[in-house]
Amino acid sequence: MAEIDTSSLDMSRLPQHVAVIMDGNGRWAQQRGMSRVEGHKRGKDSVRAIVEATRKLGIPYLSLFAFSTENWARPRREVNALMSLLRRYLRTEIERMMNNEVRVVAIGDTARLPDSVREELEAAIERTRDNRRLTVGLCVSYGGREDLVNAARMLGREVAAGRLAVEDIDEAAISDSLGTAGIPDPDLLIRTSGEMRISNFFLWQLAYTEIFVTDALWPDFREPEYVAALEEFQRRVRRFGRVLDEPRRQAAH
Ligand code: IPE
Ligand code: IPE
Ligand code: MG
Repeated sequence: MAEIDTSSLDMSRLPQHVAVIMDGNGRWAQQRGMSRVEGHKRGKDSVRAIVEATRKLGIPYLSLFAFSTENWARPRREVNALMSLLRRYLRTEIERMMNNEVRVVAIGDTARLPDSVREELEAAIERTRDNRRLTVGLCVSYGGREDLVNAARMLGREVAAGRLAVEDIDEAAISDSLGTAGIPDPDLLIRTSGEMRISNFFLWQLAYTEIFVTDALWPDFREPEYVAALEEFQRRVRRFGRVLDEPRRQAAH
Protein backbone atom coordinates (compact mmCIF):
# COMPACT_ATOMS: atom_id res chain seq x y z
CA MET A 1 0.00 0.00 0.00
CA ALA A 2 1.33 3.46 -0.89
CA GLU A 3 1.91 5.84 1.98
CA ILE A 4 -0.72 8.41 2.89
CA ASP A 5 0.28 12.01 3.62
CA THR A 6 -0.74 12.46 7.25
CA SER A 7 1.44 15.50 7.96
CA SER A 8 -1.65 17.73 8.39
CA LEU A 9 -3.30 15.32 10.86
CA ASP A 10 -2.91 14.70 14.56
CA MET A 11 -2.71 10.91 14.50
CA SER A 12 -3.57 10.68 18.19
CA ARG A 13 -6.94 12.38 17.60
CA LEU A 14 -8.39 10.47 14.69
CA PRO A 15 -12.02 9.35 14.78
CA GLN A 16 -12.52 5.72 15.79
CA HIS A 17 -15.54 5.28 13.55
CA VAL A 18 -16.20 7.12 10.29
CA ALA A 19 -19.59 6.73 8.61
CA VAL A 20 -20.14 7.81 5.00
CA ILE A 21 -23.28 8.59 3.01
CA MET A 22 -21.84 7.93 -0.44
CA ASP A 23 -23.99 10.26 -2.54
CA GLY A 24 -23.81 11.87 -5.97
CA ASN A 25 -22.98 9.00 -8.33
CA GLY A 26 -25.93 9.78 -10.58
CA ARG A 27 -25.09 13.46 -10.84
CA TRP A 28 -21.44 12.68 -11.53
CA ALA A 29 -22.51 10.59 -14.53
CA GLN A 30 -25.20 12.99 -15.72
CA GLN A 31 -22.70 15.86 -15.76
CA ARG A 32 -20.69 13.80 -18.24
CA GLY A 33 -23.63 12.73 -20.37
CA MET A 34 -23.31 9.17 -19.08
CA SER A 35 -25.92 6.86 -17.59
CA ARG A 36 -26.33 6.86 -13.80
CA VAL A 37 -24.96 3.35 -13.68
CA GLU A 38 -21.59 4.63 -14.97
CA GLY A 39 -21.49 6.85 -11.89
CA HIS A 40 -22.07 3.88 -9.61
CA LYS A 41 -19.24 2.02 -11.35
CA ARG A 42 -16.88 4.91 -10.75
CA GLY A 43 -18.15 5.16 -7.17
CA LYS A 44 -16.87 1.63 -6.58
CA ASP A 45 -13.31 2.92 -7.08
CA SER A 46 -13.91 5.54 -4.38
CA VAL A 47 -15.08 2.79 -2.03
CA ARG A 48 -11.81 0.96 -2.53
CA ALA A 49 -9.78 4.17 -2.05
CA ILE A 50 -11.56 5.11 1.18
CA VAL A 51 -11.41 1.60 2.64
CA GLU A 52 -7.66 1.51 1.96
CA ALA A 53 -7.07 5.00 3.33
CA THR A 54 -9.02 4.14 6.49
CA ARG A 55 -6.92 1.05 6.94
CA LYS A 56 -3.68 2.98 6.40
CA LEU A 57 -4.72 5.61 8.91
CA GLY A 58 -5.47 2.93 11.49
CA ILE A 59 -9.11 3.99 12.00
CA PRO A 60 -10.78 0.79 13.26
CA TYR A 61 -14.39 1.26 12.03
CA LEU A 62 -15.82 2.47 8.73
CA SER A 63 -19.52 2.32 7.83
CA LEU A 64 -20.57 2.83 4.24
CA PHE A 65 -24.17 3.64 3.33
CA ALA A 66 -24.40 1.84 0.01
CA PHE A 67 -28.13 1.21 -0.46
CA SER A 68 -31.08 2.44 1.58
CA THR A 69 -34.47 0.84 2.20
CA GLU A 70 -35.87 3.69 0.06
CA ASN A 71 -33.47 2.95 -2.80
CA TRP A 72 -35.51 -0.19 -3.61
CA ALA A 73 -38.01 2.21 -5.18
CA ARG A 74 -35.53 3.24 -7.91
CA PRO A 75 -36.01 1.91 -11.47
CA ARG A 76 -35.45 -1.86 -11.64
CA ARG A 77 -32.57 -1.44 -14.05
CA GLU A 78 -30.66 0.79 -11.63
CA VAL A 79 -31.39 -1.46 -8.64
CA ASN A 80 -30.16 -4.49 -10.60
CA ALA A 81 -27.00 -2.64 -11.65
CA LEU A 82 -26.29 -1.64 -8.04
CA MET A 83 -26.80 -5.21 -6.87
CA SER A 84 -24.48 -6.64 -9.47
CA LEU A 85 -21.87 -3.98 -8.66
CA LEU A 86 -22.07 -4.93 -5.00
CA ARG A 87 -21.55 -8.57 -5.86
CA ARG A 88 -18.62 -7.76 -8.13
CA TYR A 89 -17.08 -5.45 -5.54
CA LEU A 90 -17.14 -8.23 -2.94
CA ARG A 91 -15.72 -10.76 -5.35
CA THR A 92 -12.85 -8.60 -6.59
CA GLU A 93 -11.93 -7.04 -3.23
CA ILE A 94 -11.94 -10.10 -1.01
CA GLU A 95 -8.23 -10.95 -1.44
CA ARG A 96 -7.24 -7.37 -0.84
CA MET A 97 -9.38 -7.34 2.29
CA MET A 98 -7.70 -10.50 3.54
CA ASN A 99 -4.26 -9.02 2.86
CA ASN A 100 -5.21 -5.83 4.67
CA GLU A 101 -6.88 -7.66 7.56
CA VAL A 102 -10.22 -6.01 6.87
CA ARG A 103 -13.37 -7.54 8.32
CA VAL A 104 -16.67 -7.08 6.49
CA VAL A 105 -19.98 -6.93 8.31
CA ALA A 106 -23.42 -6.30 6.83
CA ILE A 107 -25.78 -3.79 8.37
CA GLY A 108 -29.34 -3.84 7.04
CA ASP A 109 -31.99 -6.25 5.81
CA THR A 110 -29.82 -8.62 3.79
CA ALA A 111 -32.76 -11.02 3.41
CA ARG A 112 -34.12 -8.63 0.78
CA LEU A 113 -31.01 -8.91 -1.40
CA PRO A 114 -31.04 -11.18 -4.46
CA ASP A 115 -29.70 -14.66 -3.56
CA SER A 116 -26.48 -14.28 -5.54
CA VAL A 117 -25.61 -11.01 -3.78
CA ARG A 118 -26.53 -12.30 -0.34
CA GLU A 119 -24.43 -15.42 -0.86
CA GLU A 120 -21.39 -13.38 -1.95
CA LEU A 121 -21.88 -11.10 1.05
CA GLU A 122 -22.22 -13.99 3.48
CA ALA A 123 -19.09 -15.59 2.03
CA ALA A 124 -17.13 -12.35 2.49
CA ILE A 125 -18.38 -11.96 6.06
CA GLU A 126 -17.45 -15.54 6.88
CA ARG A 127 -14.01 -15.36 5.27
CA THR A 128 -13.03 -12.07 6.89
CA ARG A 129 -14.58 -12.69 10.31
CA ASP A 130 -11.27 -12.98 12.19
CA ASN A 131 -9.64 -9.91 10.61
CA ARG A 132 -9.11 -7.25 13.22
CA ARG A 133 -7.42 -4.17 11.72
CA LEU A 134 -10.51 -2.53 10.25
CA THR A 135 -14.20 -3.37 10.38
CA VAL A 136 -16.12 -2.19 7.32
CA GLY A 137 -19.88 -2.07 7.87
CA LEU A 138 -21.63 -2.34 4.53
CA CYS A 139 -25.03 -0.75 5.00
CA VAL A 140 -27.22 -2.36 2.36
CA SER A 141 -30.99 -2.30 2.36
CA TYR A 142 -30.48 -0.22 5.48
CA GLY A 143 -32.91 2.26 6.98
CA GLY A 144 -32.48 3.95 10.35
CA ARG A 145 -36.19 3.70 11.13
CA GLU A 146 -36.35 0.06 10.15
CA ASP A 147 -33.34 -0.58 12.38
CA LEU A 148 -35.18 1.01 15.32
CA VAL A 149 -38.39 -0.89 14.56
CA ASN A 150 -36.46 -4.15 14.55
CA ALA A 151 -34.79 -3.25 17.85
CA ALA A 152 -38.17 -2.44 19.43
CA ARG A 153 -39.56 -5.77 18.25
CA MET A 154 -36.53 -7.67 19.50
CA LEU A 155 -36.75 -6.09 22.94
CA GLY A 156 -40.53 -6.54 22.98
CA ARG A 157 -40.12 -10.25 22.35
CA GLU A 158 -37.63 -10.52 25.22
CA VAL A 159 -40.07 -8.77 27.54
CA ALA A 160 -43.01 -10.93 26.38
CA ALA A 161 -40.94 -14.07 27.00
CA GLY A 162 -40.15 -12.90 30.53
CA ARG A 163 -36.41 -12.66 29.84
CA LEU A 164 -36.18 -8.88 30.14
CA ALA A 165 -37.76 -6.38 32.55
CA VAL A 166 -39.21 -3.21 31.02
CA GLU A 167 -37.03 -1.18 33.42
CA ASP A 168 -33.95 -2.82 31.95
CA ILE A 169 -34.60 -1.31 28.52
CA ASP A 170 -31.99 1.43 28.55
CA GLU A 171 -29.78 3.15 25.97
CA ALA A 172 -27.29 0.30 25.99
CA ALA A 173 -30.05 -2.27 25.43
CA ILE A 174 -31.28 -0.33 22.40
CA SER A 175 -27.74 0.14 21.01
CA ASP A 176 -27.15 -3.59 21.41
CA SER A 177 -30.33 -4.39 19.48
CA LEU A 178 -29.44 -2.33 16.40
CA GLY A 179 -27.62 -3.49 13.28
CA THR A 180 -24.50 -1.77 14.63
CA ALA A 181 -24.44 -3.77 17.90
CA GLY A 182 -20.86 -3.95 19.16
CA ILE A 183 -19.70 -1.06 16.97
CA PRO A 184 -19.11 2.31 18.68
CA ASP A 185 -21.21 5.27 17.50
CA PRO A 186 -19.61 7.19 14.61
CA ASP A 187 -17.39 10.15 15.55
CA LEU A 188 -17.57 11.56 12.04
CA LEU A 189 -20.26 11.39 9.36
CA ILE A 190 -19.23 12.38 5.86
CA ARG A 191 -21.88 13.07 3.24
CA THR A 192 -20.81 13.79 -0.30
CA SER A 193 -22.65 15.77 -3.00
CA GLY A 194 -23.72 18.65 -0.76
CA GLU A 195 -27.06 17.37 0.55
CA MET A 196 -27.72 18.56 4.10
CA ARG A 197 -29.75 15.61 5.27
CA ILE A 198 -29.47 12.24 6.94
CA SER A 199 -31.70 10.33 4.46
CA ASN A 200 -32.71 7.73 7.07
CA PHE A 201 -29.15 6.67 7.87
CA PHE A 202 -28.01 5.92 11.47
CA LEU A 203 -30.77 7.84 13.32
CA TRP A 204 -29.88 6.62 16.80
CA GLN A 205 -26.14 6.27 16.31
CA LEU A 206 -25.56 9.83 15.05
CA ALA A 207 -26.70 11.54 18.27
CA TYR A 208 -23.33 13.23 18.85
CA THR A 209 -21.54 12.57 15.58
CA GLU A 210 -19.73 15.45 13.88
CA ILE A 211 -21.29 15.99 10.45
CA PHE A 212 -19.15 16.95 7.46
CA VAL A 213 -20.87 17.69 4.16
CA THR A 214 -18.75 18.22 1.05
CA ASP A 215 -19.86 19.29 -2.42
CA ALA A 216 -17.56 16.67 -3.94
CA LEU A 217 -19.57 13.94 -5.64
CA TRP A 218 -18.84 10.42 -4.40
CA PRO A 219 -16.87 9.29 -7.51
CA ASP A 220 -14.58 12.31 -6.96
CA PHE A 221 -14.11 11.64 -3.24
CA ARG A 222 -10.66 10.12 -2.79
CA GLU A 223 -7.76 10.25 -0.34
CA PRO A 224 -7.12 14.05 -0.45
CA GLU A 225 -10.82 14.81 0.12
CA TYR A 226 -10.88 12.28 2.97
CA VAL A 227 -7.83 13.84 4.63
CA ALA A 228 -9.53 17.26 4.32
CA ALA A 229 -12.62 15.85 6.09
CA LEU A 230 -10.43 14.50 8.88
CA GLU A 231 -8.65 17.86 9.20
CA GLU A 232 -12.03 19.56 9.59
CA PHE A 233 -13.04 16.94 12.17
CA GLN A 234 -9.93 17.79 14.17
CA ARG A 235 -10.89 21.48 14.18
CA ARG A 236 -14.28 20.72 15.72
CA VAL A 237 -14.89 21.21 19.44
CA ARG A 238 -16.98 18.32 20.75
CA ARG A 239 -18.89 19.36 23.83
CA PHE A 240 -21.46 16.55 24.19
CA GLY A 241 -23.81 19.08 25.78
CA ARG A 242 -21.36 20.11 28.47
CA VAL A 243 -19.53 23.34 29.19
CA LEU A 244 -15.87 23.15 28.35
CA ASP A 245 -13.22 24.17 30.84
CA GLU A 246 -11.71 27.47 29.82
CA PRO A 247 -8.37 27.33 31.60
CA ARG A 248 -7.08 30.71 30.44
CA ARG A 249 -10.13 32.66 31.47
CA GLN A 250 -10.27 30.82 34.78
CA ALA A 251 -6.62 31.68 35.38
CA ALA A 252 -7.36 35.39 34.86
CA HIS A 253 -9.90 35.47 37.71
C1 IPE B 1 -25.41 7.40 -4.34
O1 IPE B 1 -25.55 8.10 -5.51
C2 IPE B 1 -25.57 5.90 -4.51
C3 IPE B 1 -26.82 5.36 -4.00
C4 IPE B 1 -27.74 6.01 -3.35
C5 IPE B 1 -27.07 3.95 -4.21
P1 IPE B 1 -26.96 8.47 -6.12
O2 IPE B 1 -27.38 7.38 -7.02
O3 IPE B 1 -27.93 8.82 -5.07
O4 IPE B 1 -26.59 9.75 -6.98
P2 IPE B 1 -27.38 11.11 -7.08
O5 IPE B 1 -27.63 11.58 -5.68
O6 IPE B 1 -28.64 10.83 -7.81
O7 IPE B 1 -26.46 12.02 -7.81
C1 IPE C 1 -28.70 8.20 0.55
O1 IPE C 1 -28.66 8.74 -0.72
C2 IPE C 1 -28.55 6.72 0.48
C3 IPE C 1 -27.24 6.22 0.10
C4 IPE C 1 -26.18 6.94 -0.16
C5 IPE C 1 -27.14 4.79 0.01
P1 IPE C 1 -29.99 9.02 -1.56
O2 IPE C 1 -29.55 9.60 -2.85
O3 IPE C 1 -30.80 7.79 -1.63
O4 IPE C 1 -30.74 10.07 -0.65
P2 IPE C 1 -31.71 11.27 -1.02
O5 IPE C 1 -32.78 10.70 -1.92
O6 IPE C 1 -30.90 12.30 -1.71
O7 IPE C 1 -32.22 11.76 0.29
MG1 MG D 1 -28.45 10.54 -4.15
